[in-house]
Amino acid sequence: MSEQLLFQPSAAAIARTHTTAEQYDALYQRSITDPDGFWAEQAKRLDWVRFPTKIKNTTFAYPDVSIKWFEDGVLNVAANCIDRHLAEHGDDIAIIWEPDNPNDQAEHISYRTLHEKVCRCANVLKSLGVRKGDRVTIYLPMIPQAAYAMLACARIGAVHSVVFGGFSPDSLAGRINDCDSAVVITADEGRRGGKTVPLKANVDKALEDCPGVQKVLVVHNTGADVAMKGSRDVWWHEAAAGVEPFNDPEPMNAEDPLFILYTSGSTGKPKGVLHTTGGYLTYTSLTHELSFDYKRGEVFWCTADVGWITGHSYIVYGPLANGATTVMFEGIPSWPDASRFWQVVERHKVNIFHTAPTAIRSLMGAGAEYVEKHDMPSLRLLGTVGEPINPEAWLWYYNKVGKGRCEIVDAWWQTETGGHMIAPFPGAIPTKPGSATKPFFGVIPEVLSPEGKVQEQTKAEGVLVIKDSWPSQARTIWGDHGRFVSTYFETYKGTYFTGDGCRRDEDGYYWITGRVDDVLNVSGHRLGTAEVESALVAHPKVSEAAVVGFPHDIKGQGIYCYVTLMAGEAYDDGLRGELRNWVRKEIGPIASPDFIQWAPGLPKTRSGKIMRRILRKVAENDFGSLGDTSTLADPSVVDDLIANRQNKP
Ligand code: WT7
Repeated sequence: MSEQLLFQPSAAAIARTHTTAEQYDALYQRSITDPDGFWAEQAKRLDWVRFPTKIKNTTFAYPDVSIKWFEDGVLNVAANCIDRHLAEHGDDIAIIWEPDNPNDQAEHISYRTLHEKVCRCANVLKSLGVRKGDRVTIYLPMIPQAAYAMLACARIGAVHSVVFGGFSPDSLAGRINDCDSAVVITADEGRRGGKTVPLKANVDKALEDCPGVQKVLVVHNTGADVAMKGSRDVWWHEAAAGVEPFNDPEPMNAEDPLFILYTSGSTGKPKGVLHTTGGYLTYTSLTHELSFDYKRGEVFWCTADVGWITGHSYIVYGPLANGATTVMFEGIPSWPDASRFWQVVERHKVNIFHTAPTAIRSLMGAGAEYVEKHDMPSLRLLGTVGEPINPEAWLWYYNKVGKGRCEIVDAWWQTETGGHMIAPFPGAIPTKPGSATKPFFGVIPEVLSPEGKVQEQTKAEGVLVIKDSWPSQARTIWGDHGRFVSTYFETYKGTYFTGDGCRRDEDGYYWITGRVDDVLNVSGHRLGTAEVESALVAHPKVSEAAVVGFPHDIKGQGIYCYVTLMAGEAYDDGLRGELRNWVRKEIGPIASPDFIQWAPGLPKTRSGKIMRRILRKVAENDFGSLGDTSTLADPSVVDDLIANRQNKP
């Protein structure tokens, strides 16, 4: 049914677009047939110390995967995001910071002020011993200092690793150690939805296991009384007051690392996805401009947290490279009530609003009255990202939030892709609710059968791979190039495997159907089932655990855990709560299990492999299609699992 729905771009969108439908077709073709010429042209959008002469040098050939873009170019990301705007746009607002509590003052930070803040932070980092190439872990709430810290690292050539403030001390410690950060930047506390988050206390706990950390730079944020450890801990405001307000940006090679961002995969520990300098900034600034049809002076708000790739690419780097005004919001959509987003849109006259399907669904569930009382005449475009959006939520967004006059941009991409890969060009590509539509310039999607056969016909279904490199692609996994190659390039050799399933319709539109691997997408956050399993089995009473996803009305996917206890342990309800808290403590609240089912036996093949397919079906309450269970070592465990299926948390 929804596939019949087709929304033509509005007359207003067509009148103002950077890229008409004809231009999209022609430029897309050129980007594929002449990538060197196309991307050399696009690279001119940045200021280079030395403009590159070598543009694309990439191969997906297994196992010699190597990705280099603009490899002899020299530039600095912070200079591109700040300094080059100063002469003509120094007084333009770079960041509007909206605090958690609506009664507190918003801050308007000009490009000139941003320059001073970033330079001071850069000098502080240098004074703490940070040098080009060193890693710095940033564990901050959504306050302007998070952007200052990222840009300060970029300015001096340090590699930042931002860790979402909702991760536990254990998760933080693992990420600090994996990339050997000697410096951590945090705050006394964060604020979110009227509550405080004990960031400094979490860092102190994490650092018990991080012998390599020499210095902790602490933002005085809520003013909470926190312990400062003598020579290790330094207050940001004190250090910043004692250094110069200017700093010469470090000339960086286009392929020098810019940042590491940890993300979950189907196996093992989270991977440190590495992004580099020239290709990343070229692509994120171009996609920010074209996917949102951004024009200077507009107010752009992406509601993500800087702890995720969306925050890196579309709160900080893409918008600031374009001299945009970007909103940074400390709070959550539901506090003090479900009209908070719309209040902020009205308060700051937001033109482009960008959020996730899970937020849209929960606000839809709260009732239309919260959005109906806000006119929001400034709005002209609405973005959605992070997971497939169901057509009902798309239509609610379009009709209730956009009042039927805003373009909807559903952008499919990943931490590893750095920027948008499939998304409608507003004013050029008609939209269909639930489809991310057409590829961005330079992106060649292919649909393969699960066995790896290329589906040549337009209408097709299978797994989504990308045939050739694009500039903002991750270059490697920090410290483990072999894992990079085996995760993304081994399954379907010669292509980049996205981990997503997809459908291409007769118009060539792409419909992402979700992950085909053991990665969950819970409220737009990626989580490996293996991570939750290893957290569970770390509990002294747990002998074995298997975790699967199930469809969840608000979160997209929920977390369903099957747990086998050690011999002699009692399967009681109290232990369920204990295990739930245990996982929250091990990973963070985003990994909180929705259901824990006691499973004295798990369905295993005779060779001992857990049959997850069956566990998924039971969690989904879909017993009719369990498939062949005759290869199980003990088929009777399935009846037991069905009989004990959990339907309340
Ligand atoms: C996974 C990547 C990069 C954005 C934030 C998430 C899913 C992302 C969409 C979309 C359908 C989407 C995919 C992808 N996803 N955007 N518009 N429609 N699915 O980044 O944490 O790296 O997760 O999110 O499954 O593989 P991420």
